[in-house]
Amino acid sequence: SIIRLEDYRPTPYAIPRLAMTFELHPEKTCVRNEMHIEPKESAGEKPALILNGEGLKLLSVELNGSLLLSDDYHVDDKHLTIPHPPEQAFTLTITTEINPTANTRLEGLYRTSNTYCTQCEAEGFRRITYFYDRPDCLSVYDVRLEAPVTGNPHLLSNGNLIDSGALTEKRDGSDWHFAQWHDPHPKPAYLFACVAGDLARIEDSFTTSSGREVNLHIYVEHGKEDRVSYAMDALKRSMRWDEEVYGREYDLDLFQIVAVSDFNMGAMENKGLNIFNDKYVLAKPDTATDTDYALIEAIIAHEYFHNWTGNRITCRDWFQLCLKEGLTVFRDQEFSSDMRSRAVKRIEDTRQLRSRQFPEDGGPLAHPVRPESYSEINNFYTATVYEKGAELCRMIKAILGRDAFSNGLDLYFERHDGEAATIEDFLKAFEDASGKDLSQFSLWYSQAGTPDVAVTSTYNAKHKELTLAVEQSCPATPGQPTKRAMHIPVRFGLIGKNGQEVSFTNTRGGDIDLHGMEGILHIRERKQSFVLEGVESPALPSLLRGFSAPVRLRSNLTDDDILHLMQHDSDSFNRWEASQYLLIRTLIRKSEQDNPIEVNQRDMTLIEALGKVIFDPQLDMAFRAEILAIPSETDIAREIGRNVDPDAIHHGRETFRQSLAERLQTQLRKLYHSLQQHGPYQPDAEGSGRRALRNRVLDLLVMLPDKSGIELAQIQFNTATNMTDRFAALASLTHHGKDAAKPLLTSFYEQFKDDALVIDKWLSLQATSPKSDCLATVQSLLDHPSFSLNNPNRTRALIGAFAMSNACQFNRADGKGYRLVADIILELDDKNPQTAARLLNNFRSWRVLEEGRQAKARTELERIATANPLSKDVADIVNRCLH
Ligand code: ARG
Ligand code: ZN
Repeated sequence: SIIRLEDYRPTPYAIPRLAMTFELHPEKTCVRNEMHIEPKESAGEKPALILNGEGLKLLSVELNGSLLLSDDYHVDDKHLTIPHPPEQAFTLTITTEINPTANTRLEGLYRTSNTYCTQCEAEGFRRITYFYDRPDCLSVYDVRLEAPVTGNPHLLSNGNLIDSGALTEKRDGSDWHFAQWHDPHPKPAYLFACVAGDLARIEDSFTTSSGREVNLHIYVEHGKEDRVSYAMDALKRSMRWDEEVYGREYDLDLFQIVAVSDFNMGAMENKGLNIFNDKYVLAKPDTATDTDYALIEAIIAHEYFHNWTGNRITCRDWFQLCLKEGLTVFRDQEFSSDMRSRAVKRIEDTRQLRSRQFPEDGGPLAHPVRPESYSEINNFYTATVYEKGAELCRMIKAILGRDAFSNGLDLYFERHDGEAATIEDFLKAFEDASGKDLSQFSLWYSQAGTPDVAVTSTYNAKHKELTLAVEQSCPATPGQPTKRAMHIPVRFGLIGKNGQEVSFTNTRGGDIDLHGMEGILHIRERKQSFVLEGVESPALPSLLRGFSAPVRLRSNLTDDDILHLMQHDSDSFNRWEASQYLLIRTLIRKSEQDNPIEVNQRDMTLIEALGKVIFDPQLDMAFRAEILAIPSETDIAREIGRNVDPDAIHHGRETFRQSLAERLQTQLRKLYHSLQQHGPYQPDAEGSGRRALRNRVLDLLVMLPDKSGIELAQIQFNTATNMTDRFAALASLTHHGKDAAKPLLTSFYEQFKDDALVIDKWLSLQATSPKSDCLATVQSLLDHPSFSLNNPNRTRALIGAFAMSNACQFNRADGKGYRLVADIILELDDKNPQTAARLLNNFRSWRVLEEGRQAKARTELERIATANPLSKDVADIVNRCLH
């Protein structure tokens, strides 16, 4: 069944408060849910009360304290209905029994390493009790947890701890205790959480700007206490930043984070009780890489920022998911930019958007940032809703300017605090605060697809004018054959022949904001010409600076023009962009050549230009590392767009990398040695930038035929003082180092075999090897004692990495890569449909492949589609992929 935005209706009843009691038992947890229910409109016939519930054993229903007979209500596998509820406010008490141990879906209440934990977003609460399990039903929760003392010293829920103590009577012969929690902030059911178990607690505190003393508790498995300090520090920095930048203060006396090892997603922003995949909490230098540290910082911030953007103001319905997710991603990106290098963060986010969101937007799973229908909401926690959603917030900021944007957000918080809001409410706040019209802009929320922007630049020396003739279009996407013209903000500057910035005095032909030497073109028409006046000398436009809009840009600039921008642009983001453009063009050419080893003059020019940036000591090392991050095979495939041959791409890319290594080897070696670490490991921007650059250099050096690079990698592996350097060396050897990697992979395993998060890296590394024996390796790892399909992190590390990051082996011409992944999806489907559906997403670009591979992929997709039974999650994705 399809749920549609246009069908939204408010509930006829409100549930302003409820009191829940959990008697926790591994297989038979009893949940008593006492709801205070009020009809919304006092007059007229009262409609039926229809509550959601799935997979529940119903024990009893009481109305105002007396047991209801089964004629007074009706239960099916998805609802509990009371056809004739009282006309006045009433109390409905529902008691259910659930089995947390048998819950392998990891939705609702489940067990992970002997800890009870919950995941209710999007629709998990209905697997705990009957309720209005939808985000527009806001309630105050009182939660009482009861459990045996042994095994459950900690009993946690949302809000503040009101009371706790021992139960006087023993149950099943053991001592029990209880904890009573009260959350004063009305919230939707998806933000409910509880946790019970035997965990270690790390404590700290934070004083808010108005002087509220907040206790900070992070819970982790015993023995992992030494891996929490970075997450705790990131939390405190997030709390301070949200006060300073957004004026948002924390609103409870306690903030808790629990790290668990079985979790479908990254983390969850439950009010006052965030629950995390432990991968995004735990870190110490010898087990976590710089990337892990950066992700921990970003995700801790993300979940914390949801307290205002998501929890205080939530979503009216799940179509509005981007209201909280897009905005919160935007906020966490801004936070990371302030903590680290803004330019580098923007490069990373742009790279992510292009490699994850663009393929989604250009394939069968394309959907608007605010979808208009869905059959399974869990399949809409996508790169489009999250990452493109964040880009829309960034564009609003670009269009309004910093001050009006900040006033608009203040107005949004002021107007909608405590409410379940919509995208219309959000945009209205910005319109009212700025006086600007965002109606054309709002198309970004409803039109799927990545717009194309083509710019033709011409200079008229006589009139000293530069004309930018612009054309926009947007490809058809499922259900949307034609698109309207959008409002696209394009930030730009001008670069002269001598490499200096060139100014312009006046503009005509369209709306342009001027900011010093820069401007923003407001493209609104399908075809439009902007004229810049007072341009004293010929200049090249440096367009779409900072990736000011999520579009594909084409222009009439030549490769030489782009090379000029790569060397001289005053905007470092666009220098990187120019390098990527030229690299992709070169790599596509290489993939088409019979003999890509030949290095022609064009290749040499690019290699030399890259060298100039890489070896420029004036530039930030993290930025130089980004320049050296050669576009991935998936990036190249996306740009080719049709009839893709992944083997040719792989071969072309490898030979280009080898040429780069050979031509620049003397300087690369020197650079490698000069970047040696001095002093202790620091996961900050400076340290991680240096390691990123050094390890990218190493990854080129291992390609040298004289094996000198392989030796360097072996030494680095053996002498590394942190996981970043050790793992980078191992990765370079595994992917390029012939047989040198084998013994090191074994010793790495021996050293870290008890550390699941490190073993995940070890699994991923082998699953992403481009060599043809990879398939057999992955197959045998499925039976490895360290692997388990029951754990989402293990599954993603092995199968997810293979399908997502091993373009040439997943897309093997013999179809065996597809077959392997399809087998796993089918095996996983009835255990954990969410994770199975996620894996299936990797098939989304199958139509861009050459015919032979398309046929093999189709066979597997059809095999999945006809499997019976099939979860709603997987059925939805496979049907859209095949449509
Ligand atoms: N709201 C969470 C976050 O972005 C994600 C939870 C998604 N869970 C799900 N089952 N779809 O931080
Ligand atoms: Zn989120």
